[in-house]
Amino acid sequence: MAEPGSVAERIKQQADIVRVVGEYVRLKKSGQNFTGLCPFHQEKTPSFAVHPGKQIYHCFGCGAGGDVFKFVMEMDKVSFPEAIRAVAEKCAIPMPEWRGRGGPQAQQATQQRRLLLEMHKAASAFFLRQLETAEGRVARAYLEDRGLKPETIARFGLGWAPSTGEALVRFLRSKFSPALLDLSGLASRDRNEQAFDRFRRRVMFPIASESGRVVAFGGRAIGDEQPKYLNSPETGIYTKSHVLYNLDRAREAIRREGFAVLVEGYMDAIALAEAGIENVIASCGTSLAEGQVRLLGRFTKNIVVNFDLDAAGQAATDRSLVLLLGADFEIRVLVLPSAEGGKSDPDQFIRKQGAKAYREVLGRSPLYLDYLIARARRMDSGTIESKLRAVNFLLPYVRLLPSPLARSEWASRIASELRVDQAVLRQSLVQAAAERRTEVKARAELLTAAVTPAERRLLKMLLDADEFRERLAGEIARGEVHRGLETEKLFAVLLEAGLPSNGSAEELTALGERLEERDRRLLFDLAFESAAEPSWEEAESCLAVLRRRQFETQLRAVQAEIEALKNQSGGAGTGGKVELLRLLEKKQTLRASLDRLEG
Ligand code: GTP
Ligand code: MN
Repeated sequence: MAEPGSVAERIKQQADIVRVVGEYVRLKKSGQNFTGLCPFHQEKTPSFAVHPGKQIYHCFGCGAGGDVFKFVMEMDKVSFPEAIRAVAEKCAIPMPEWRGRGGPQAQQATQQRRLLLEMHKAASAFFLRQLETAEGRVARAYLEDRGLKPETIARFGLGWAPSTGEALVRFLRSKFSPALLDLSGLASRDRNEQAFDRFRRRVMFPIASESGRVVAFGGRAIGDEQPKYLNSPETGIYTKSHVLYNLDRAREAIRREGFAVLVEGYMDAIALAEAGIENVIASCGTSLAEGQVRLLGRFTKNIVVNFDLDAAGQAATDRSLVLLLGADFEIRVLVLPSAEGGKSDPDQFIRKQGAKAYREVLGRSPLYLDYLIARARRMDSGTIESKLRAVNFLLPYVRLLPSPLARSEWASRIASELRVDQAVLRQSLVQAAAERRTEVKARAELLTAAVTPAERRLLKMLLDADEFRERLAGEIARGEVHRGLETEKLFAVLLEAGLPSNGSAEELTALGERLEERDRRLLFDLAFESAAEPSWEEAESCLAVLRRRQFETQLRAVQAEIEALKNQSGGAGTGGKVELLRLLEKKQTLRASLDRLEG
């Protein structure tokens, strides 16, 4: 692919394929070559080889092979020109600017970026050394107190920014120009234009690009100083929205495991990695940006999001997950229960309950849409309004799914879980999409399915069945089978008003005046509908349908309560246990009643 004499060819000659491949694959020297596990297919014994002499790679297992550019193109899913640029950067080969563009200015910018990277590398080493000083030992103690092993501290390159306020500046000044220092985000200037350290008295977390170059820092206060975390500003080498913390260390594990775990904080990522869950990355407080989603998409399309999903965090989380949905990710959501019923971040959870418990809940993380449906069901109290709210809550997410098949599947799921008419829901989705709406309007239609044939039939009998109207009304009132139905109000008005003798227009109008528009329409529809002659057997079977439905609704409510209780308290706490027992008993009773009805 690289033509002789071309830029690509020149870069290829200078590049070191072992170094580039080594960023992605753990390589071992074997004779003239290097071998490792093939990143292009699943394998347990290495059949993947890199030949430094020929500057090519080859897999005897799956047949993948090519030069350094092909490798980067395949691994990172990038184009040829992007791969050339990436290889040049990885091997620190200066890129000539493409003809036409560039020129001295662009060259200067490249040079500046190179120097900033060098400066960050130096700063990183500096912070690391500070951990060994008398002052830094306090920080080391802090980190160990938070449960980090010395190996982990070293592996993540954690360091200490001293409190003097000019230690780093003084160190860097001997190697880099003041102008570059100003651009680095590592120093600020005081009123007298004197440069001083941006990070003081903080534990330092180096933030690296996906290829492992330090491009910024996060610094944590070890006391109550504010802010708790101070981060580097954006610079020539650091764009927040394009960097994911720990991706450089996690990328291999992400490919191996086939998914990534996304957490909020530095400490969360480190705690997971220490617990052996290495495919972890952190968004670092900000909600996920489009650039970060694209970056991650090069490594996997499967993600488990383990954010703090308390009410406050929820909205922000939803917003960032929307980006993932739109980018065709399969998203799972992990909400950690905490023993105290309070918030529990992954770090705290692992420290208290251990890595094994974490793995267990991780493995059970529900799909994001299932999690949303569960939330929607909690909004649905059975009334039309609440159902509509629940449907409209879900709608934007479904619309975001890029695949029509997935949209269709989810429409069916939602229809059945929320008990709305499937055909109308689908149509509403299509319509809302066409009109670029984010709300379903067709409320009455959408929810017609909510009025079951049994309800209609019973209402009709209450109007028409002269022989047993009174008896039917008595049965309904006694069992309160109309409670919680869409037509509850209509039933109540009919029962309370005394039934219209023979559906005279005046009586109907008077009744109608006590009803809302929707119920009034239904009342008139029913009154003028011609129907088969009713029988008491039919009435009884309709009553049975409603009774069953009543038990089912109660059962659902109890189940929701049980789940809420479990999520909230992790099942612990004596009060919680007693309440849980009570709910489980109630569930059993309802089950038994239902069985009796069916049997
Ligand atoms: P620890 O208290 O050290 O366990 O931190 P945490 O990671 O649990 O912190 P928290 O959940 O409060 O915040 C999550 C992430 O948000 C952190 O890792 C930081 O990246 C970021 N963050 C938190 N507080 C601040 C802050 O005050 N300023 C900035 N810029 N970022 C913050
Ligand atoms: Mn924390």
